[in-house]
Parts: sequence; structure tokens; C-alpha cells
Amino acid sequence: MTNPEIERIYQLREELHTHNYNYYVLNAPVIGDIEFDHLMRELQDLEAKHPEVYDENSPTMRVGSDISKDFVQVEHKYPMLSLGNTYSEEEVSDFYERVRKSLNEDFEICCEMKFDGTSISLTYENGKLVRAVTRGDGVKGDDVTDNVKTIRTIPLVLKGDNYPQNFEIRGEILMPWDVFEMLNKEREAKEEPLFANPRNAASGTLKLQNSSVVASRKLDAYLYYLLGDNLPCDGHYENLQEARKWGFKISDTTRKVKTLQEVFDFIKYWDTERKNLPVATDGIVLKVNSLRQQKNLGYTAKSPRWAIAYKFQAEKALTRLQKVTYQVGRTGAITPVANLDPVQLSGTIVKRASLHNADIIASLDLHEGDMVYVEKGGEIIPKITGVDTASRMSDSKPVEFITHCPECGEPLTRFEDEAAYYCTNEDSCPPQIKGKIEHFISRKAMNIEGLGPETVDLFYQEGMIGNAADLYELKEEEIARLERFGEKSAQNIMAGLEASKLVGFERVIFALGIRFVGETVAKKLAKSVKNIDTLISASREQLVAIDEIGEKIAESIIHFFSSEKNRTLVERLKAAGLKMEMDAEQSANVSNILEGQSVVISGVFSVHSRDEYKDIIEKHGGKNVGSISKKTSFILAGENMGPSKLEKAQTLGIRIMSEAEFLSMIESQDDKKETVIQEKIADKIESPSTTDTDDKKKTNKNIQLELF
Ligand code: IVH
Repeated sequence: MTNPEIERIYQLREELHTHNYNYYVLNAPVIGDIEFDHLMRELQDLEAKHPEVYDENSPTMRVGSDISKDFVQVEHKYPMLSLGNTYSEEEVSDFYERVRKSLNEDFEICCEMKFDGTSISLTYENGKLVRAVTRGDGVKGDDVTDNVKTIRTIPLVLKGDNYPQNFEIRGEILMPWDVFEMLNKEREAKEEPLFANPRNAASGTLKLQNSSVVASRKLDAYLYYLLGDNLPCDGHYENLQEARKWGFKISDTTRKVKTLQEVFDFIKYWDTERKNLPVATDGIVLKVNSLRQQKNLGYTAKSPRWAIAYKFQAEKALTRLQKVTYQVGRTGAITPVANLDPVQLSGTIVKRASLHNADIIASLDLHEGDMVYVEKGGEIIPKITGVDTASRMSDSKPVEFITHCPECGEPLTRFEDEAAYYCTNEDSCPPQIKGKIEHFISRKAMNIEGLGPETVDLFYQEGMIGNAADLYELKEEEIARLERFGEKSAQNIMAGLEASKLVGFERVIFALGIRFVGETVAKKLAKSVKNIDTLISASREQLVAIDEIGEKIAESIIHFFSSEKNRTLVERLKAAGLKMEMDAEQSANVSNILEGQSVVISGVFSVHSRDEYKDIIEKHGGKNVGSISKKTSFILAGENMGPSKLEKAQTLGIRIMSEAEFLSMIESQDDKKETVIQEKIADKIESPSTTDTDDKKKTNKNIQLELF
């Protein structure tokens, strides 16, 4: 007897696959978003009720899961070769001639865009996606199937009926320009490092451990190469058109041509027109169309003789240098910046370009008012790659690097072996003072809620702060009195400062802003010295004996603490109540109740984040593992645990523990401790309300984490 709910599951899966294709591949949805979400939710609910009809290619797989796992390496059935590259039309002619001579018969060339993303090989069996593997070293790659399933333009189940039983299709995973720009904006707001280009963003995203984050990043995929024994046609182009009917996204820029002139016309057209495409391209690919002829031409050790890539020149723009200005960083390093007449370059308007240091200015022989070439390389900030000397005015003067700090007037110093000039007036040069405080409050350092660069600037202008220790002497009334600040935001800042007193010792070391002491070095130092006094009095020999601490870092630490001013700063921070030693809990386990246990974390949680649970497990002697196996002790399961995990756990008879059960087990171990935590949180955070400034906002979760 058939179960109507199960029948509904099958029906919904089919419908959703079609809606997905209509929306993402054809750009022609037939139902609205709300209706789509509604159907998806219905399917999710039914699938949760019926794990017996689990399907790894169900449309619900598109939402991803937050299971962490290291990727499994898989050998490619056919190695993933690269293409011979050329930048010159002459070499394109040579390629065409070589092909003509070798084949000695008529041939066609398929002209395609060279997509600038990260390559992927998809394997389909009986019309279903079974595996997605990255290029890796060309022989072996990472199995990223779960992540790839979240990409809506990649069909999980094929349409039509003439696809081969087994085949591979290769293509490029891309992050569209608009998604890339949005992602970087979000990252900037969260003070996270930016992606340099959509290629890095796409490959970084594909390698994320959490496929639900991958799902949110809106990747796209164009497919351009089919491999298999029973492909429908002899023509590569014709096969791609068939693949389009199976549901794949095949670029409609692809053309089949015969003559060399037609090839050049294609190149010329797309060299400019590609700027209007939604994804990044860096050239065109020419492929001999007939598979029989491809086989005749064969391969060299690295690449096929039947294809070549012609790379476009990096886009350049010519514009006028208005003036060079100089920025002073928190360490006093001076960075010259070229201010330019605004110019359009690869989809954005460029007004400024980095000049890096004095040597670069000298090597460009840059003159005031020069017409300069600007290029976007791999980096976000464009650079000046050349000067149009022919258009230079005869009386123009060379750009002279400044000799004094533009902010405080201090003569600049150049240290041995360093390219940068420095302003050494650390104590009274405003951008250095503010930069140090900004670093101190930043997310990875003291993470102070309610404070951001704008507030620091204002407090500094108002004479309320001159260093990080002054922050802890701020008065609520004093802040509330300022324009732009209400009582609530003043309270919030005070609560943020209070809460920062619970931040771990290693982050306090990082927050001090000692040159060359980044997050990792700070952690190593904290673990080794255990308290600030040992660090202050450590000799160079003692410091270099610490794992990963070299001469340069040791020197810098000694230099930092040799300053009376810095020692006073530390003393004041200590007196304010900041952590100046490792907590006993930080170095020791809280309990051993999870000793020897392997725990898999799955689903979405409401009390703590996944990372926090990972930490809690470790602090209680357990180990967090990525995938379920016979050795798994239990699964800590939140909401929406993936159906595949659920099924696996059930098959292996592994216990599934809810968030509440887990917490009560942990709390029973450290009841006292938990009470302390709750009290401390209640003390520190009165209300998690937002400030009326636009500075960053945080939750109280970090504080809890610090206590475990
Ligand atoms: S065909 C054996 N076609 O370029 C030839 N590759 O250096 C297989 N790429 O790793 C590749 N667009 O990631 C081909 N239309 C296109 C392409 C393309 C971009 C990438 C691909 C490959 C690299 C070749």
C-alpha cells in the first residue's frame, strides 16, 4: 500500500527540480519565491518524517548542512589537464595552422569564453549527480559534492532521456560580480579580510566546511567539457547543446566557426563585450570541435593539442595623477597613495591607487600631473603600472617623497632592510594613537561592543582618550553628554568595556599591538609565559626558546616593554581588571566527563554556536569529529539535522543527544561554574540593545565562551 505522504515527497521533488531549473538556469520562474519556499518547507518536513525515502539528490540538499568535515581526496577518472596559454594573436594563428596541417581535412573550431573561477568535475550516473571533485593537482582532487549540491544551476537530477548512463562534465564554479561585491561589503562591515577577486571567493567558498554557508554565497556554474564513452554526438559544440537540454548551464556565448578570421572576430568582440557578462572571464578557449579529430590530435604531457587558451590583456585605464597623499598607519608606517581623476576600470570607478613605498615612486619616475596606467591585478586595490611619459608637461616636477610626517610633522625614519618610511612619534602622532586604540577594540582583540573607529575618533577629538587604558576610565555621563550619544549607547559602551574584562589573556596580548605579534603569536606567548609579568621580564633567549618565536619578534617584544609608557599602560589595564594571566580553566580541562568520546555536531543550535560547542566538548575532555562512524560516541544534534546523518546514525545505532540534554549533562558537572557565568553575564550586560551609533554590534555569546 502506498503512503500518500511518500507519494507527495516524490511529487514535490520532481516539481521543485523543475522550478529550480526554470528559475536558476532559464531565468524564467513560473512560481513566486514564497510559493517555492513553501513547497520546499513542505518537502523538508515530509522528508524528516520519512527518512526511509532519503534521497541524496533531493532538492532539499540545496540548503546545505553545517556538518564539518575534511574533504576526501578522490582520483580523477580522466586527469584534469590545463590548456596551453597565449597572449598573442600570432600564436593563435600558429595553433590554427598546426591543427590544419596535422588534420589535413576540414575542421571546425568551437570558440568559448574562458571563465575565471575554479574548475570542477561532476560525475553523473543514471542521470544523478554522484560526485563533484575539484581540480586538485589534476590527478586527485577534493570531493566537494555536498557543497556543490547547494549550487542551484547544477542539476542534481537530469532532464530528458538521451544522456549517457555514466559521464563526467567539467566546468567552472564562479561567484557572480554582484554577489562578490555584496559579500565583500558584508565582510568589510564585519572587519573580516576581503576576497581579492571573485575567483578566490569562489574557490574559498567551495572549500568551506559548512555547506549551509556555501548555500548562502550564491555560486554559479558554467559547464564546458563533456567526457564519457557514449556521448550523443561527435561534435563538442553539439554535445554541449544536448547537455543544455539535460539541465546544465551552458554559456550562450559559445560559437562554432571555421576560419581564422572568424576566430579573431570572436576574440575582438568579447575582449570588450565581456565587461557586460555577470561573471569574470580572463580569455577565450578555442577547441577543435570534432571529438574524432581531437583524438587524432592527441595530447602533450600537460595539455591537449586540440585546444588553446587566448588570455586577454589585464584591463588598463589611463588617467591623470592629481596628487600623492600619505597615510600613517598604527605602527607609524607611511603609505603613499595616488589620487587620480576618476576612471572606469573592470566594472568599478577607480579614484585611488596604492603606490606602496618610495622605491616604487622612484622606479616609476612619477611626476606631478602625469598620465598614468592603472591596472587591477590580483589585489583589490588597483596599482599604477606605468606612466605615459610622452604626454608629460616639460615643466612638471618629479614626485618627491615627504620627509616629515603629514600628521604630526616628525622627521621620517627609514629602518635598515625596510622599504617603508616611519614616523617614530608614537606618543603624539594622532593616527598612530587612534590606530592603536582601534586595534585594541577590534573584533579579534578586545571585541568591545558599541565602540568602533568613528567613536574612537570622536573620543580622541574630545580629549577623552589618548590610549587604550583611558577607555576604562570613561564615565557613562561623560559619553551620554556627547552629541550623537544617548544614555542607551553610553550604557552599551560601558557594558562592552566591562565585558571585555573577561576576554582571555592571549587576546589581551594581541590587543596591545606589539609589532609582529599577531593572533597566533599572541596565543603561543600566552600559553608559554602564563602571565604578563613573565612576558615583561622575559629575556631574548627565553623568548626565542618559545615555539615559533624568532629573533625579530623577540626583539620587538623587548623593545615594547622597554618603554616606560607601555609598562604604565599595561599596569593601568591590569588595574582596570583585564586578564593578565591565563585562567586556570583556560589551561586545564573543566571536567573529564567526555574523556575518550568522539562527538559529531550537527544541525542548528540556539544556546551556543557550533564553535562554542566544539570548545565545550574539548574543555570536557572530548573530541569533536566531522563525520559519523562506528567510533562516534554520540551526536550533539540541533534543529534540522541532515536526513543523511540521521539515517546513518540510526543504522549505526548511535545516540542522538539534543542541545538541552547535552547542556544539562555538562551543567551537572559544573553547576557552580555555570551559575558564576550567568551571574557574570547578568552583571556585565544589562541589555543587548543596539547603540545609536553605527558601530559594530555583538552578542554576549563571546563572553560565555571566554569562561569555558
Ligand atoms: S576546457 C583539457 N574550457 O581553464 C581542457 N577550460 O587551463 C579542459 N577554463 O582548468 C579545459 N573556461 O578551469 C576549458 N571554456 C573553457 C574554460 C576552461 C575556463 C579553465 C579551466 C581549466 C583552465 C585551463
